[in-house]
Amino acid sequence: MADLAASRAIGTALLRWYDAHARALPWRAPPGEPAPDPYRVWLSEVMLQQTTVAAVKPYFAKFVETWPTVNALAAADSADVMAAWAGLGYYARARNLHACAKAVVADHGGRFPETEAELRTLPGIGAYIGAAVAAIAFGEAATVVDANVERVIARLRAIETPLPKARPEIRRIAESLTPEKRPGDFAQAMMDLGATICTARNPDCPACPLEGDCAASRADDPARFPVKAAKKPKPVRRGTAFWLERQEHVLLVRRPDKGLLGGMRALPSGPWEERPSSDTDAPADIAWSPLGTVSHVFTHFALELDVVGGRVLTRPDLRADWDGEWWPLGDIEDAGLPTVFAKAATLALAQRENET
Ligand code: ADE
Repeated sequence: MADLAASRAIGTALLRWYDAHARALPWRAPPGEPAPDPYRVWLSEVMLQQTTVAAVKPYFAKFVETWPTVNALAAADSADVMAAWAGLGYYARARNLHACAKAVVADHGGRFPETEAELRTLPGIGAYIGAAVAAIAFGEAATVVDANVERVIARLRAIETPLPKARPEIRRIAESLTPEKRPGDFAQAMMDLGATICTARNPDCPACPLEGDCAASRADDPARFPVKAAKKPKPVRRGTAFWLERQEHVLLVRRPDKGLLGGMRALPSGPWEERPSSDTDAPADIAWSPLGTVSHVFTHFALELDVVGGRVLTRPDLRADWDGEWWPLGDIEDAGLPTVFAKAATLALAQRENET
């Protein structure tokens, strides 16, 4: 019983703090107000998974302006959705986003189902997004656990077990704290606390509504929590991207739907492996000149991508598998290239400037 009372007290303190300090965000209802449109909640949570609020804001604005409802998004061209996502990363999210919108329209009459269990049957909706939408849009007492929440809980109880092993324990504690009333505000309060006060480095403990309940704040170094298992260094892969120009256009391809950057527009590129790819991966059998190298860090590896350029006057014989389109150089910003290829394009265009 004492535990239950302590959990309630934590929930109350956190919600009181949220009432005064909630961040005003475009997808959010002010504290205590009726829930916002489930479409906006879902869209924002898909974007916010693995991405910061600051990075998400302009993408959220663009998406709701272009596709104001789930029906509009379902009816969109998939290439347009992928291009609008370019730069936000983790592109499987965009493929799933579109598939989910279509499923909501086809299987649920254009209305999001209202329980965590039903939401989780939809494409791309896992534990995190299912709980977030159920709690924030529909008031279900579902428990949302993201990296911010993990940090807050690991500190609250000074959990010495390192992540990721501590996850089940953290989830149990988070569930025990989730209130029946205002679970959506509670979830958002936990995330706001983690993002603004209980930050990874330099937590601002004196400003924290949970300081009195927090085991880590009494330790010498609260930022030591969550304890993390030692990280393996990321392997480095190398590859080559081909910048092929013809009369103020560049050859772009669409990557296969499955795999890294699946479905995105891209420069033709060989495989990304330990060794650089060779000219046999090139889209056409012409002379290529080195333009430079760009670096990009993905979740599981770091990439060093050599960029080589070539120019043709007439339509070349493209090797099989390069289902390309000739994109006007002046409109390259609208191609929706993911960041690694946008870096390669910037490099190639800068070289061109130097030439003239
Ligand atoms: N991070 C992910 N979702 C969030 C939300 N709804 N509020 C604050 N931070 C978040």
